[in-house]
Amino acid sequence: MPSSVSQRSSERPVYAIIPAAGASVRLGAALPKPLLELAGQPILCWTIDAFLAVDSITAVTVLYKEDYRREFEQALSHYPKDRVWLTPGGVDRQSSVRCGLEHLGRVSDLSSEPFVLVHDAARCLIKPELVLSVSAALKHKRAVTAAVPVTDTIKQSTADGYKTLDRGSLHAIQTPQGFRLSELLEAHRSVEGLFTDDSSLFESFVAPVSLIDGERSNIKVTTPSDLVAAEAFLRSRLLNN
Ligand code: CTP
Ligand code: MG
Repeated sequence: MPSSVSQRSSERPVYAIIPAAGASVRLGAALPKPLLELAGQPILCWTIDAFLAVDSITAVTVLYKEDYRREFEQALSHYPKDRVWLTPGGVDRQSSVRCGLEHLGRVSDLSSEPFVLVHDAARCLIKPELVLSVSAALKHKRAVTAAVPVTDTIKQSTADGYKTLDRGSLHAIQTPQGFRLSELLEAHRSVEGLFTDDSSLFESFVAPVSLIDGERSNIKVTTPSDLVAAEAFLRSRLLNN
């Protein structure tokens, strides 16, 4: 587990929601990707460890795929039960996050105005420092997401071909994404349509979301080549620690 990092300034509870209930179709492995082992432990555990290494994280809710309940329970059996919770996810990412929010709405004291950080289980290269930056930014921003400037030239398809977008104004959006728990819960309850992340859902229904510097290495393991890259990163970190 990474060494711990602290944030003294925020007194509010900070919960994390980790959606891990996807089918991993693009990876095409025998197990859902959060359960696949990389550099000695499941992808999901690398992700959880980065959150538990941050003192101000009150608890982490993991959304799991119901067909694999036993496997998820076993993978997480070594974590303290009061800090890592398992809740069944939904049919798409948005429903899984909603399940996590509803769970937190039931078990937490909303009058303490908790923050919530949503982070994909598949972004297992997340570092505790980025978790801390997103939660610290919530003290002066209403909603925040990690992001990095786009490095590829991006073309948009049009009726008669393609047009090149102005790369200088484009950002690749990552997770973690941070919100007031009650505001994100409310936004999810009022949602119409399907969003690929919570920042786009929030900006459609509530307010703009601020960007803070993410990490280039904070990739989402999506295809088989991402697995190779993630394993290499994790092994090099193990060697250097
Ligand atoms: N996720 C989830 N519930 C779903 C779908 C996705 O909790 N019903 C989670 C995934 O487990 C992953 C994150 O959302 O940690 C980002 O999704 P993605 O990378 O698309 O994962 P999958 O949906 O599993 O992959 P694919 O789209 O290739 O099937
Ligand atoms: Mg998906």
